Amino acid sequence: MKVGIDKIGFYTPNKFVDMVDLAKARDVDPGKFLIGIGQNKMAVADKSQDAVSMAINATSEYIDKIELDKLGLLVFGTESSVDQSKSASLFVKKALNLPKNIRTFELKEACFGLTAAIMTAIDYVKAHEDKTAIVIGSDIARYGVATPGEVTQGAGSISLLIKKDPSIMEINSETSMYSDDIDDFWRPNNFKCALVDGKYSTNVYLDFFKHCFEDYTQKQNLKTSDFEALLFHLPFTKMGQKALKLAIEGQDPETTARLLDKFVAGATYGKEVGNIYTASLYMSLLSLLEVDQPKAGSLIGLFSYGSGAMAEFFTGRLVDGYEKQLAPEKHKEMLEKRQKLTVAEYEEVFNESLKDLAESQEVQSDANGWYFAGTSNNIRKYSRK
Ligand code: COA
Repeated sequence: MKVGIDKIGFYTPNKFVDMVDLAKARDVDPGKFLIGIGQNKMAVADKSQDAVSMAINATSEYIDKIELDKLGLLVFGTESSVDQSKSASLFVKKALNLPKNIRTFELKEACFGLTAAIMTAIDYVKAHEDKTAIVIGSDIARYGVATPGEVTQGAGSISLLIKKDPSIMEINSETSMYSDDIDDFWRPNNFKCALVDGKYSTNVYLDFFKHCFEDYTQKQNLKTSDFEALLFHLPFTKMGQKALKLAIEGQDPETTARLLDKFVAGATYGKEVGNIYTASLYMSLLSLLEVDQPKAGSLIGLFSYGSGAMAEFFTGRLVDGYEKQLAPEKHKEMLEKRQKLTVAEYEEVFNESLKDLAESQEVQSDANGWYFAGTSNNIRKYSRK
């Protein structure tokens, strides 16, 4: 049975910081951020946007186009959770008026969360072929003002509909996985920003990629040249570029040029948005499809990595007519219409968003769409403008 991605929704908040401005403020050569790290801009979530509101906005993009009576599963992958107990997915379900007779929960394994949700959804659809599943990755990457990780922050969400005979990409059943208990990036319960051993994390990511990619290509009898594109989890775009370099080493010039070109197309949105943890790999897929429009039938390789660490390499084939499901103009407009913050404004917004909320507190938003409207007796409220 062919199962895969039928719809994609994307959302990123309405504010950003330019990496040249950030480099100047941190007394760093802008070349380090633009080329060395590979980022141009970084999305900034003010206190009216959290993992839930971004997820509702991303899912809203396609919710009116799907058959709600077929929905059986809603899974929310995040590492920016808003509650220690209640699933973020329940807020989404309420906001979008989704059916009550579905299975819904949140799951976590760092940036691997959305891949875990997708694999769960595929198994679910294979067991219940008339049913569909919504899977969401939504995160705010926070390392802290003036930390080495600051340049690799970001905010956004990707929401996917998984179903039989999908309209965008069929996902192949075989995958290669690799995991180990390591401490490269983590966020203890009492921390609002992530802790990271950046250099170690980079090395582990590359090591896990080698394990998964070699295992997959060997078992499936594939060559690097068989892939139209290789996409990666992009905590910053240079990270994926380093992994791609390993894959294209010793390849023929045509394969090398193609995989490099497709990587650039796949990194276009990430360069503007920054790290969105669970959703980064899938923002790269959307970016490839909307910026480059590879031909239908193309084989796409996807490498998912979540610190801690869990990695998986899998592949998909693009479905004829997939481009009709996309919204490149809308996404271009969302990125272009964002408000540019000075570094001082970004720091203020960032620090404000870290503050604990009062038991009952109203939050205002200057953005259209869904937003976090504050608390009432410690219960989170979401509204739409
Ligand atoms: N022009 C171009 N490139 C430059 C430069 C300049 N003027 N100055 C420095 N660079 C390059 C460096 O050569 C280096 O490239 P390399 O990685 O290919 O060697 C790159 O910029 C980064 O420089 P570095 O000194 O290593 O930066 P750093 O000590 O500030 O750390 C990270 C960078 C990525 C490790 C840090 O931002 C971090 O920890 N980020 C979070 C990591 C993360 O997301 N982990 C989770 C992974 S899933």
